[in-house]
Amino acid sequence: MEVLDARAPETTRNLKLRHYLAQKPLLVILNKSDLARPEATAQWLKFYNARESAALAIDAHKGTGIENIFKYLEEGSVRRTRFTRAARFMIIGIPNVGKSTLVNRLAGKRAARTGDQPGTTRGRQWIRLRDGLELLDTPGLIHPEIRDEEAAFRLAALGTVKEKTVDREELAIWLISFLQENYPGIIECCYEIEESLRPLQLMELIGRRRGCLRSGGVIDYLQVSTMVIKDFRSGKLGRITLELPGGGEEVETKGIK
Ligand code: G4P
Repeated sequence: MEVLDARAPETTRNLKLRHYLAQKPLLVILNKSDLARPEATAQWLKFYNARESAALAIDAHKGTGIENIFKYLEEGSVRRTRFTRAARFMIIGIPNVGKSTLVNRLAGKRAARTGDQPGTTRGRQWIRLRDGLELLDTPGLIHPEIRDEEAAFRLAALGTVKEKTVDREELAIWLISFLQENYPGIIECCYEIEESLRPLQLMELIGRRRGCLRSGGVIDYLQVSTMVIKDFRSGKLGRITLELPGGGEEVETKGIK
């Protein structure tokens, strides 16, 4: 199962994974769907289901959609074939997409942890779920692929790359101009300011309104940036998707609203 962030699925996907998996089935999980625009998530599900992978949207934090994963695993083609042993699977994804949250959700409180060998207590363990399903307890961590500058901004906005990858103030400016273009009215509504100004001017207004000031009444742009990014990540700005599937394999950001 590859866990993606529903707000930017293709950007948080590792395109080489399919190659490494060879013939093994891959289930795409669009996690954090509670933070993404529902219409956009529906488009992404259609996009993946029409291509090589089955896909499901979930909210691992609240547990929404977890039953659908079990249903897929129990009924789908991944079920045992001619062997009677358990069907085993693992969770994989880039940092911060919700892999550990999903492992805990799937495992639940009563799941038994089982070593590969009797007496094995260290290292990887298989968690026995229901009806002959076993989950590897340690999710696989893969590096995000930074394909271009836009992808770097999207990954940074989602908190999936190290802080130093993108300058925080530049990220806030990118995010504000993305919202102005694709989600008009959001900045105005959330920060109670007139939004038809340039991003830097908007940051100044936000800073004044929210008291992000240094001594002498100078705007603290770093503090404003941190706040705007945090508001996006936590969903305070609303449900926002950063990219949509395009006509072909390409990804678009236009027309998200
Ligand atoms: P990882 O293993 O892939 O690195 O991700 P992890 O499960 O640690 O989740 C990263 C953050 O995302 C956590 O928040 C987690 O609670 C949150 N999260 C996971 N799934 C969902 C989801 O479906 N919806 C929402 N809204 N959030 C989700 P955190 O702030 O880092 O930690 P915490 O405050 O929850 O402890």
